[in-house]
Amino acid sequence: MRGAPRVYPSGRHGLNKQENVEGMNVKCMNMKAIAAVDANWGIGMNGRLLARLPADLKRFREITTGNVIVVGRETLESFPGKKPLPHRTTVCLTRNRDYKADCVIAHSMDECLKYLSEFSRGDIYIAGGESVYAQFLPYCDCCLITKMEASLRADRFFINLDNSEEFKLESESEAICENGITYRFMEYRRTLCVCGS
Ligand SMILES: NC(=O)c1ccc[n+]([C@@H]2O[C@H](COP(=O)([O-])OP(=O)(O)OC[C@H]3O[C@@H](n4cnc5c(N)ncnc54)[C@H](OP(=O)(O)O)[C@@H]3O)[C@@H](O)[C@H]2O)c1
Repeated sequence: MRGAPRVYPSGRHGLNKQENVEGMNVKCMNMKAIAAVDANWGIGMNGRLLARLPADLKRFREITTGNVIVVGRETLESFPGKKPLPHRTTVCLTRNRDYKADCVIAHSMDECLKYLSEFSRGDIYIAGGESVYAQFLPYCDCCLITKMEASLRADRFFINLDNSEEFKLESESEAICENGITYRFMEYRRTLCVCGS
């Protein structure tokens, strides 16, 4: 069930622009959000994904392998063995300075963006969960959304891009059906790009 909306203090959802952060050229970092959502833009329940969709997991692996994913600590701990996924650079956000994991740890948005602007190679995928999507969406120019037709029980959500003036649906795939769930791969693009392009 959906509880009271959570507020993410560092998030700047609502701005239709990507900004420089303390001189970092954030807007040119080529960040994309990647998420699987149900009909109500739910993404998770009790710390887990809403459904098991093998073709979607395969696509996630293919898209993100060799690139960078940014995740919150809860999402990292939802991965198999609570470990970073292989063959990609994982940046995990946590405010806990004693937290240890076999990946890059960032303790704030600014620390994360600084790392991404200075050291990351390849494309950057914002891979959840809810708090991380909400905070990074202002920096994303594209959202790769796996959209399920079903309404499932969820306690974590992605921003509803169909109600957003900042993104528009650019493409959608044919329907796929797995484990009784029909879904499509959708691509949403930012309507206004401030990169000068
Ligand atoms: N459907 C999908 O595509 C998809 C993808 C990913 C995840 N999910 C689901 O989403 C749910 C998890 O989402 P969630 O919102 O609960 O958790 P989350 O975003 O994965 O992680 C939240 C944690 O990240 C850290 N964090 C967030 N913002 C930070 C900041 N600015 N600075 C430092 N640390 C920060 C904090 O860790 P500390 O508490 O350690 O400080 C916070 O508690 C799960 O159900 C998961 O399965 C779904």
